Formats: sequence, C-alpha cells, structure tokens
Amino acid sequence: MKPASLEKSLAGLPLSELRYFDSIGSTNDEALAWATEGAGDFSLVVADEQTSGRGRAGRKWITPRGTALAFSLILRPTASEAEAPSLLTGLGALALVDALNKHKLKAKIKWPNDVLLNGKKAAGILVESVWMGDSLDTAVLGMGVNVLAGSAPPAEELLFPATSVEAELGQPLERVKLLNEILSALLRRRGDLSTGKLVKDWEEALAFRGEEVQIGKESEEPLVGRILGLEVDGSLKLLVNDKIVTVQSGEIHLRPAV
Ligand code: BTN
Repeated sequence: MKPASLEKSLAGLPLSELRYFDSIGSTNDEALAWATEGAGDFSLVVADEQTSGRGRAGRKWITPRGTALAFSLILRPTASEAEAPSLLTGLGALALVDALNKHKLKAKIKWPNDVLLNGKKAAGILVESVWMGDSLDTAVLGMGVNVLAGSAPPAEELLFPATSVEAELGQPLERVKLLNEILSALLRRRGDLSTGKLVKDWEEALAFRGEEVQIGKESEEPLVGRILGLEVDGSLKLLVNDKIVTVQSGEIHLRPAV
C-alpha cells in the first residue's frame, strides 16, 4: 500500500489525523496508545501488515502484507454512543456491509462482529474501550478485511470458513478505495446510533436469522435457540424452549446436522 495513494484516497474525509505503517504489531494497540496521548475523534491507524493482530476471545488475526485491510479508528464517543458502546461493533459491521453492497456483494453480519460473504467470513471487527471510571472515554474500532485473494487464512487454521472480497467478486478491489467507502459509510451511519435505525438495519443484515444455532459462551454450556433479532442495545434475541432469551456476548455456531 502506498502512503501517497492512501492519503489521496482519504483526503475528502474529516479525519483528525492518519498514521500509516508498512508493518506493525497491531493497529488496535497503536490506536489505544495514541488515544491516551490525546488523539482526536476519527483518528485513523492503517497498516499494510500486522505481525500480532488480535481478534476476539484472544485469537490471532493474520494480516499478510499487500493483500488485506487492517485499520483502527479512534472514536471519542458522543453521549449517546457512550451509553451503548456495544452498538459500535454493529456500526463498523454495517459500514462494511454498505461498502460491499456498493459492489453488488450481499454481505451478512454473523453476530456480533463478523462479516460474511456467501456464508464465509470475509472480515472481523474488534472494538476495544478505554474507560474513565464508569464512563466510556474512547472506543477503538478495529477492522480486518480479507480483500485480495491470498488474504484469507488457510482452512486448517479456521473455526469458520473464510473467503476474500476478491474471491467473491471475481476481480480484485483496490484496498484504499474500499477503505474510503467503509469510512464514508461509518460517518453516514454514526447518526443512526441514537435513532434506532442502526439496530434495525443491523437486524436486517443478520446472518442465520430465523435459524437454530448454538451460542458458545466462555465457561458456560452452549445455548441452543432460534435467532429472532436484536435488542435495542445490540444484544442477540433468541427463542430458547419457547422463551425469549437475550445474549450480550458469545459466538454463533451452526448446529451440527443430526
Ligand atoms: C475477529 O474476527 O475476531 C476480529 C478481528 C479484528 C482484526 C482487526 S485488524 C485491525 C485491528 N487490529 C487488530 O489487532 N485487530 C483488529
């Protein structure tokens, strides 16, 4: 990725500041450190390669050089964003869905933070927060997108099948162009957080809605239920034995066929 073409592509966006790295451990780590030094709202860290990228639940996230998008956006939350930080994951996922829709790709969100193309994972989102006592000071919205062929990890390393945007589109897509489209959608969508539109659209983009799934939760028995939709705070609403159950965190697994 050429820094000059990145800067040119993002020139029209109201970024506070941009930091670009050819190679870095994790853009989220850099953004969290930068936030403590006073980075402004909508400051962006982009890297061509991550050597210790992080995913949810302590998993590794691989960003091979030259093929993927890996970025972290610093958000200084408004009062309504600070009240429902869990919606920021939906904000990132929907912004990517919007950007992919522009290329006629039908993307779905595997709650809470994965974006799927044709049922395979093409991207993941990791939102990390900095708290001041009880109030949210900063959220770092990290996103990794498998853009070009070769960015999706090998099948044997995966819990869920993966793909790339290029594989599903049948042609390569310029990474800086996609980044511009994601950030533009994020800016447009940010106002929807306080109106309920964000949750409504997130719900419509949910993968496996109406289907029976298993929700794996750390150190708890998996929960089996039918996905009904989302609560106003972005929690997942399930029908479990004729009762509505809401789940704040966890991981969706498809039920093995019996
Ligand atoms: C997941 O699917 O578990 C979330 C993956 C999030 C990966 C992105 S890549 C940019 C940012 N930096 C990181 O270390 N992680 C996020």
